[in-house]
Amino acid sequence: MCGIVGVVNGAKSAEHLLAGLKQLEYRGYDSSGIAVIEDRSLRSEKAVGKLGQLVGALEANPIDGPVGIAHTRWATHGAPTATNAHPHIAGDVAVVHNGIIENFKDLRSELEADGHQFRSETDTEVVPHLIRGYLAEGLSAEAAVQKALGRLDGAYALGILIQGEQERLFAARRGSPLAIGYADDAMFMASDGMALAPMTDRVSYLEDGDVAILDRGGVDVVDEGGRSVSRRVVTTGFSAEDIGKAGYRHYMLKEIHEQPAVVRQTLAAHGGTQAGHFKIPDLSFDIADVPRLSIIACGTSSYAGQVARYWFEDVARIPVDVDIASEFRYRNSPLTPGGAALFISQSGETADTLAALRFAKEREQHIISLVNVPESTIARESDVVLQTYAGPEIGVASTKAFTAQLTTLAILAIHAGQQRGTLDNERAAALIASLSRTPQQIEKMLADRKPIAKMAKLIAPARSALFIGRGSSFPIALEGALKLKEISYIHAEGFGAGELKHGPIALVDEETPVVAMVPRDELFEKSVSNLQEVCARGAQVHALSDADGLDCLAGDIVSGFDVPDCDPFVAPMLQVIPLQLLAYEVAVRKGTDVDQPRNLAKSVTVE
Ligand code: G6P
Repeated sequence: MCGIVGVVNGAKSAEHLLAGLKQLEYRGYDSSGIAVIEDRSLRSEKAVGKLGQLVGALEANPIDGPVGIAHTRWATHGAPTATNAHPHIAGDVAVVHNGIIENFKDLRSELEADGHQFRSETDTEVVPHLIRGYLAEGLSAEAAVQKALGRLDGAYALGILIQGEQERLFAARRGSPLAIGYADDAMFMASDGMALAPMTDRVSYLEDGDVAILDRGGVDVVDEGGRSVSRRVVTTGFSAEDIGKAGYRHYMLKEIHEQPAVVRQTLAAHGGTQAGHFKIPDLSFDIADVPRLSIIACGTSSYAGQVARYWFEDVARIPVDVDIASEFRYRNSPLTPGGAALFISQSGETADTLAALRFAKEREQHIISLVNVPESTIARESDVVLQTYAGPEIGVASTKAFTAQLTTLAILAIHAGQQRGTLDNERAAALIASLSRTPQQIEKMLADRKPIAKMAKLIAPARSALFIGRGSSFPIALEGALKLKEISYIHAEGFGAGELKHGPIALVDEETPVVAMVPRDELFEKSVSNLQEVCARGAQVHALSDADGLDCLAGDIVSGFDVPDCDPFVAPMLQVIPLQLLAYEVAVRKGTDVDQPRNLAKSVTVE
């Protein structure tokens, strides 16, 4: 986790450092800090809490200089205090770090035995002390940095300032992402290219083991083997609009409203819906022969995978396992030779998903990834990359990335069904036509927020809420519960509706709202029975169904949301929209921090 940024511009770096940090707050916001070389001296300022605290501290105590580094933190080692905030400084050396130094305890003991005095509880602080020690031995700045890096086990993206190096900034990457930004007469580094959007759209991405030295005129990169290399410079295409709120009160609301466009764009990127076949990148293996598909992801992305299981099994008849990445890699699953493993990740940087990908690769699975950031590590380590076209997602609670994932997975499942001969042309055409209608249907749901406002008013006072669904609505119930707990801090759980009576129904009382997905599919009658079971126990039931479904349920529910009539195949893509809006409206009523909920970070780069 954590976000880092660095600037060398020969003039004043503080404004650019803060602009970069603002874009990186999604990676953590427990504390932040900057260090600059001002009048040849290293100076730093840090503050606990959101970036606004650091901005206030800098107004009271301005520092600035021609080269600087900055950090926004999601605490791993050590509480979120000012002392544990980065940059960490030892003598003439300041360091910002994203990642985890696994051997920090051994290094710290060794350094303390040599007389180094530590201030923080962090793993990071060993890095400036190591460099300082090597500088004291007479090594050049380059050699001291290289030698220190050679001592580190674990993952890092580092930005390093050395007093006396007024014109240069050092950067290094192993396991954590790091982008280099290019502008006229200035160079930048940051945890991702989007953070540099206010300054430049020209970036390159360091590879694992790279060490870079930046000055105003450019960057020298040395790879793991000590060779001078150049990394390809690309245009990110991020605009100020992409990273702004476009008049919405929160990023999350803006991103919810972008979903019709995201689904349209995703369909168009795969050849549109007219031809009867989608264009899929060459999978480098024949999906018709795949004996088994393992889908692996974390959080919201794993729920997209769970929906996809219903789709792949139904239309392509492929046996599918879905795992959360943090469990998959440790359970020593016997993977079927020749199987395919599909990794879903908005950021493409989630540490557990990446580790699971490497595990599957070692076991000779075909590696497909579905990512929203094509330059990400997961994308780079995959055999085949399917990009989601959601654009930058900044709200910590994922919304438009989820619908983009679902759209792409639906396309892939239909394609697989056609390739495997399990989906006839007529059914394929019907599914494709249903998919093509979803953008307008989502627009319709977004147009009238009153039913959701009513539901939110009733749910906001609750201490606990249940979400239930059957079939492919079950993972949507899980996602609805996750959205509510993430941003409103109301305890919420999702269950398969048929499973309630095996335990969870004991939680139901008059105080417990139950949000029920009741699509009019072949399980409608069964879902209605489950809903009546909770009504009989006094629960307030809120239902999502189409107009006819809501009419049937009218006597039992306290509120309802009309989900447009659709083929059950695409129902999950529609049902999730009101659940996102519900979580949003409840959070706004409760006054929580919608875009940056407590304790969370958008991109989880630690295991
Ligand atoms: C974090 C975010 C979630 C996200 C999950 C997986 O926990 O807060 O919103 O679903 O990571 O992220 P990924 O980038 O791999 O999809």
